Amino acid sequence: MSKTTAINDCISIEMSGDIALICIDNPPVNATGQAVRQGLQDAVEKLNAEGNARVIAIYAAGRTFVAGADIREFGKPFVPPALPDVFNVIEASSVPVISVLHGTALGGGLELGLSTHARIGIEDLRVGLPEILLGLLPGAGGTQRMPRLAGIPFALEMILSGRQVPAKEALEAGIIDRLEAGEPRDIALKAAKDVLDGTLQTRRTDQIAVTPDQGALDQTAAHLQKTQGHLFSPHKCVEAVAASTEPLVAGLKIERALFMECMDTPQRAGLIHAFFGERAVSNIPEAKGPAREIAHVGVIGGGTMGSGIATACLLAGLKVTLIEVAQDGLDRGVATITSNLDGAVKRGKLKTDKRDAVQAMLTPSLDMQSLADVDLVIEAVFEDMGVKKDIFGKLDKICKAGAILASNTSYLDVDEIAASTTRPQDVIGLHFFSPAHVMRLLEIVVADKTAPDVVASGFALAKKLGKVGVRAGVCDGFIGNRILAHYSKTAAYLVLDGATPQQVDNALEGFGFAMGPHKVGDLAGLDIGWMTRKRKAATRDPNERYAGAVADRICEEGWFGRKSGKGYYVYDSRDISPNLAVDTFIAEERDKAGVTPRSFTDQDIVDRYMTAMISEAARVVEDGTAKRPLDVDMVFLFGYGFPRHRGGPLHYADTIGAEALVARIKTYAKEDATYWQVPALLEKMAASGTSFADMNKEA
Ligand code: 3HC
Repeated sequence: MSKTTAINDCISIEMSGDIALICIDNPPVNATGQAVRQGLQDAVEKLNAEGNARVIAIYAAGRTFVAGADIREFGKPFVPPALPDVFNVIEASSVPVISVLHGTALGGGLELGLSTHARIGIEDLRVGLPEILLGLLPGAGGTQRMPRLAGIPFALEMILSGRQVPAKEALEAGIIDRLEAGEPRDIALKAAKDVLDGTLQTRRTDQIAVTPDQGALDQTAAHLQKTQGHLFSPHKCVEAVAASTEPLVAGLKIERALFMECMDTPQRAGLIHAFFGERAVSNIPEAKGPAREIAHVGVIGGGTMGSGIATACLLAGLKVTLIEVAQDGLDRGVATITSNLDGAVKRGKLKTDKRDAVQAMLTPSLDMQSLADVDLVIEAVFEDMGVKKDIFGKLDKICKAGAILASNTSYLDVDEIAASTTRPQDVIGLHFFSPAHVMRLLEIVVADKTAPDVVASGFALAKKLGKVGVRAGVCDGFIGNRILAHYSKTAAYLVLDGATPQQVDNALEGFGFAMGPHKVGDLAGLDIGWMTRKRKAATRDPNERYAGAVADRICEEGWFGRKSGKGYYVYDSRDISPNLAVDTFIAEERDKAGVTPRSFTDQDIVDRYMTAMISEAARVVEDGTAKRPLDVDMVFLFGYGFPRHRGGPLHYADTIGAEALVARIKTYAKEDATYWQVPALLEKMAASGTSFADMNKEA
């Protein structure tokens, strides 16, 4: 007969003879919030004081062992006990303590395991120290105990990558002692009995000596300096691991001090905003309603975009019918999908033995009638309203009732496309980002008449494809491309006014973008923007300063960027150098416009670029194209390479403040009052002293 005592709402002790089973039950992921910390400490102290237990086994209820510290508590007033202190109590327990880990034992969860005297993993377990992804370091003994169990090089790799290590690898590395199959409580009881009969050995991690490895530490520190100089926590992780050769008490003290330094950085706040934002984007009533079933998808267009979308659907286990108008185009599409799938195998995203079965789910066809039975069609042909309307008119006649008709348009009016069918309620925009099988953003563009279950289906599809679905309203460019169209002009103005393209790129790379805007332009193809400028020439605001002068000159030479070997830069196999001819175009265009070049600091460049981005982002929120500031942030993090540690443009805006932003725009407006206008929302926020974070909370 066993007897269970509740220590508090999250922690209970079940006595089975002289075995004590401590159960952690704090849904959804058993995070170590205050009650878990207090309960664990109280339970272990009580068992030691009472002396009835000869072994203690800790396990967790629900889908996972502890997934880490409770991130929601970060930045709020701290309530003791601190996690490292709780783990010290566990490690010092004179009654042996073992832990049974299942699901994902991450961060503070794994650190809890490391402080116990033996660890049993349950099949499918993954362990990790992902604190670095939140701008932190493992701050409850992870940087000290992991090197003791797995060695300094393994600990460094694990902590700096934040990756989830599969159970088998964890066993081989010495992180866990055994791997078993079964329910956590049953395994806990069995393992505790094994401790009693001597078939499972226990030992205190703090008594294991660390093998020093200064070489690994120096090499890692030097590499990080080169590759992640702009980030804070990776360097602190190395410092903390270096302290693991000290006695544990001293090492833990150093780890704690470094952890608190990380906690105080804006990078930590930005990364945690990104963590919760990623989950909050789909946390809206429209995403949660009943959805239509999608098992078979039709994709129209076998170009880069269509093939990428088809690949994403195939990788998610969906049946795909790919439509092209001519055999050569269809063959090219199938070849692209084949090579995408090969790439997925190489990247470990698709198992080799599943590859052929996935490809077999693809049916290429030249006949639109093949779409008669699909649940969803995604049109991905070139951006021409006439062509799209023609296609949707045909789909209206071909597709079964209830099929969802989606356009992958990146800026066209989805209401107008919907009006070319007799079923506008079934029409929606699903805007993927290239390469569509890699990029995680999916803008779900809701038109006037789109039915609620079609919107919910868009979110369900995003989830199925492993993408971050963000709701967007209809306008030219939706959320992302509309904002991009605005702020990319700033880069051109900076060059016309005195900066070089390289200086602009370097300044923004220093801010954290992987590539500056001119390098991105070269990569994407300068001809795309050139065609857009020509198409919009007739409707351009005559008062607006023309931003395309230099880019037009480059394109007129037939230089479209990387694919043609030249653009803003010259590409010579792996080398990239500035295209000196561009300097001449810039000088000539300045002369033509009567501009006397002036100098900009890198900070000026970042300030102007970011202020332009924030201005249009504020307008997008103000007119409802994006429902919340965090939706804009997630669009930029997952679709536009915005530096994750900055949290997104509007999270970053809060670090500057509305009042300062308004003052900046007013200063810039003295040079160009057409381009630099204060968005009404920012003006209002400045007057009321509110932030975008406040708007996120209210929404
Ligand atoms: N704290 C608080 N809430 C958390 C959390 C945490 N550590 N981890 C997850 N959650 C919440 C999520 O926000 C989500 O809430 P919602 O339902 O209200 O949106 C809910 O738990 C479920 O999470 P997911 O939707 O992400 O569920 P999945 O099953 O897809 O993933 C997971 C589960 C793998 C555990 C994933 O949530 C995850 O990676 N969590 C973060 C783990 C982490 O970073 N741990 C380290 C924390 S820092 C730390 O431990 C410091 C220590 O060293 C001192």
